[in-house]
Amino acid sequence: MTDHLIPPHGGTLVNLGIDSDRASELKQASRDWESWDLTPRQVCDLELLLNGGFSPLTGFMALTDYEGVCNAMRLADGTLWPIPITLDITEELAEKLGEGSTLALRDAEGVMLAALHVEDIWKPDLAAEATAVFGADNPEHPGVAYLLNQSHPVYVGGRLEGLERPIHYDYRELRHTPAELREEFAKLGWRKIVAFQTRNPMHRAHQELTLRAAKKVEANLLIHPVVGMTKPGDVDHYTRVRCYQALLPHYPQHTAKLSLLPLAMRMGGPREAVWHAIIRKNYGCTHLIVGRDHAGPGSDSKGNPFYGPYDAQELLQQHEEELGVTMVPFKMMVFVQEKDSYFPVDELPEGTKSLSISGTDLRRRLADGKEIPDWFTFSEVAQELRRSHPPRHRQGFTVFFTGLSGSGKSTIANALMTKFLEMGGRPVTLLDGDLVRKNLSSELGFSKEHRDINIRRIGYVASEITKNGGIAICAPIAPYDNIRQENKALISPYGGYILVQMSTPIEVCEERDRKGLYAKARAGIIKEFTGISDPYEEPDDADVVIDTTDVTPEEAAQEIILHLEKEDYIGASGDS
Ligand code: PPS
Repeated sequence: MTDHLIPPHGGTLVNLGIDSDRASELKQASRDWESWDLTPRQVCDLELLLNGGFSPLTGFMALTDYEGVCNAMRLADGTLWPIPITLDITEELAEKLGEGSTLALRDAEGVMLAALHVEDIWKPDLAAEATAVFGADNPEHPGVAYLLNQSHPVYVGGRLEGLERPIHYDYRELRHTPAELREEFAKLGWRKIVAFQTRNPMHRAHQELTLRAAKKVEANLLIHPVVGMTKPGDVDHYTRVRCYQALLPHYPQHTAKLSLLPLAMRMGGPREAVWHAIIRKNYGCTHLIVGRDHAGPGSDSKGNPFYGPYDAQELLQQHEEELGVTMVPFKMMVFVQEKDSYFPVDELPEGTKSLSISGTDLRRRLADGKEIPDWFTFSEVAQELRRSHPPRHRQGFTVFFTGLSGSGKSTIANALMTKFLEMGGRPVTLLDGDLVRKNLSSELGFSKEHRDINIRRIGYVASEITKNGGIAICAPIAPYDNIRQENKALISPYGGYILVQMSTPIEVCEERDRKGLYAKARAGIIKEFTGISDPYEEPDDADVVIDTTDVTPEEAAQEIILHLEKEDYIGASGDS
């Protein structure tokens, strides 16, 4: 029934699943094999290898395929393939493997998903791979960052046998294998299908663009968003899928379909566009919409774009014929108020002014609880975004104190907690240094290693509290900058992070010596004492700096409250 559809890349749709007899055989044999716990990105790659989304690949790439892909965008047999699909592992594991051994690939829970029959083991030049594939060596590019900072150092390639597909409990009715989607297309009588790739919520401009694209080539539309891994900081996929679902009724009936793609994006721009076309072809699509800066990571910190806005279109165009997938290039759509409609940016009626809202502007509007105009997005979509992006006065936040023993952290943290409780509205948790050491970190001492573990634990708990809309007040010494930065990066995506530095001079802290610890430290009875026999790294990114030498706890707490108010984390009591 699916014969009328476009043939998959390489001619045959790969399915690496095995029957239950073979699965039990492998499970039994796996007692003698080494195991590898797959990273989230590797799980995504494995899913598309097993279900044929990456046809004609039948496993993680062996060395000759890898080299061909890096150097010439081709597998060893000459088939076009732009992105390396490799399995990176540790040196320790690599040493235990050899050509001909089998490796059990497991998910985070330890379930064996696949067996890898090892063909090649090698140490790749990751920097060279970054340059070849992404045309960049700057770790501000997320694909480069993965290779340089996250990838394990050894690659292992070989054929796969799939025991189980990675398990998903979310949106099951919207997840399809290529074979399932092809089956659905055949049932619906869809032969020409234009795919729309996205990692963002879709607004009116996208709806206009996709509809125009589908009309232009007289094809049905597949909205095919990536729900595997996208660019760090993107809107989470749960929210996005609710937005796509809200958008679907705005298309003419029986012409548009939504399916979720468990791909781990690399943000590789031009090469990624070719990869996207291959994957969509495997899912049965004949066309792919490619807009401005397709799958690009934007610009680096100096404002230089990693790719030209239409580089992806150009590269895909060069390979369109060979692939058999037709690109539907699209310019950015902008709104023209006088005409009350959207136009491609290069087709603007003369003399008209256009409107658009950037991603940054949208995030700001959401954070400030400001209006999102109807011309920009459908109200149902706006409502979904609002639900998951409450304004700051309804988000959680962490107030993170750092400072010497006796600098006033606990006293002010307690005063602040009382103020928050008076205000109400959010649950408040105090993670005071001493309390944490009693309850969470009782086995730890004061070496750098142990202090880091302690601060990491506090950061983790605070991030969970912040994520769930609460207030976390943390008051450890936290003498090391690297761990404070780590916590900031962990907590900030979930809400507010306010660093309060207690700058009370050590002489004052020592003079107070409320716990008698400085005297003991001076006498050498307590070792590794911060400020006396252990370092304290002053932050240079504190949001509030307080010296309690001449300030009352009330005044200090009020200073922090005023900062929170300025940053909009505290609203009027009437704000809902
Ligand atoms: S850290 O560095 O952030 O992990 O320290 P923290 O968990 O805040 O623990 C500091 C409290 O432990 C007591 N104490 C010491 N502090 C510093 N150095 C040494 N060697 C030490 N030994 C015990 C001290 O009471 C600290 O509490 P505060 O509230 O800061 O006075």
